[in-house]
Amino acid sequence: MVKLSGSILAANLLNLKEELKRVENLIDEIHIDVMDGHFVPNLTFGFPLISAVKEVTNLPIDVHLMVTNPEFHIEKLLDYDIQRITVHIESTHHIHRAITKIKENNIEAFVTLNPGTPLVFIEEVIPYIDGVLVMSVNPGFSGQKFIAKSIEKIKTLNNWKQKHGMNYSIAVDGGVNDSNADVIISAGANILIMGYGIFKNPELENFSKQLRKK
Ligand code: DX5
Ligand code: ZN
Repeated sequence: MVKLSGSILAANLLNLKEELKRVENLIDEIHIDVMDGHFVPNLTFGFPLISAVKEVTNLPIDVHLMVTNPEFHIEKLLDYDIQRITVHIESTHHIHRAITKIKENNIEAFVTLNPGTPLVFIEEVIPYIDGVLVMSVNPGFSGQKFIAKSIEKIKTLNNWKQKHGMNYSIAVDGGVNDSNADVIISAGANILIMGYGIFKNPELENFSKQLRKK
C-alpha cells in the first residue's frame, strides 16, 4: 500500500494544530523537516516542536534530519516516541554507526540522498536500513519543482530490491503532487512525502481517496 506523508513545512504554522486535524484522516504519517542553516540554507523545527506535534496527533512521525553532525540530534531523538529517523548520507562519515544506533532503539532508520548524490553511496548500507528516501528536490524548501531524473533512482532502488530479495521502503520527497504521483508510484515508490501536495492541495480529499483505492 502507498502511504501519504504530510510535510508540515508547507502547513500554516500558526494554525498547526488545526492543520494536523484537517489532514489527519487523509494521510498516513507526519514528516518533520529539521534544518540547521548549515547542511541546508534554511532553519526550521527543533525538539520542542516535535513534542508539540506528538501531543496533538496519533499519526506516526518521521523526522528528516537536514543537519551537520546528525549524531547529536539522533542521540536526543531516541527519547522521543517517533516512528522513524531519516539521515542524509552526505551529513555523516559514519552512516552505519548512525543507522545501528537508531535501530537499536527500535526506531525505523531511513537513509536519504541529495539529487546530486549517486545511489552507489548508499548501496553498502542497504541491508541494514528500513527504507531509502529519494530527495527529488535540493533540500531546504517546500514548493520546489520535482527533478525528473529522480525517477531513475526510484526504479534502480526497486530493481535492487527485487534482485536481492529485500523489502525496504522507497520514499520520495520534494515536488510530489497529484499529477506526478502515478509515475512515481509506478517507478516503485511506496511513501509519498508532500508539503504543498498535501497542505496546499484543495483536492486533497479526492487525491487521498483515489490513492487508497489503488
Ligand atoms: C525539502 C523538504 C521537504 C519539503 C517538501 O527540503 O525535505 O519535506 O517540505 O515539500 P514539497 O512537497 O512542497 O516539495
Ligand atoms: Zn523532508
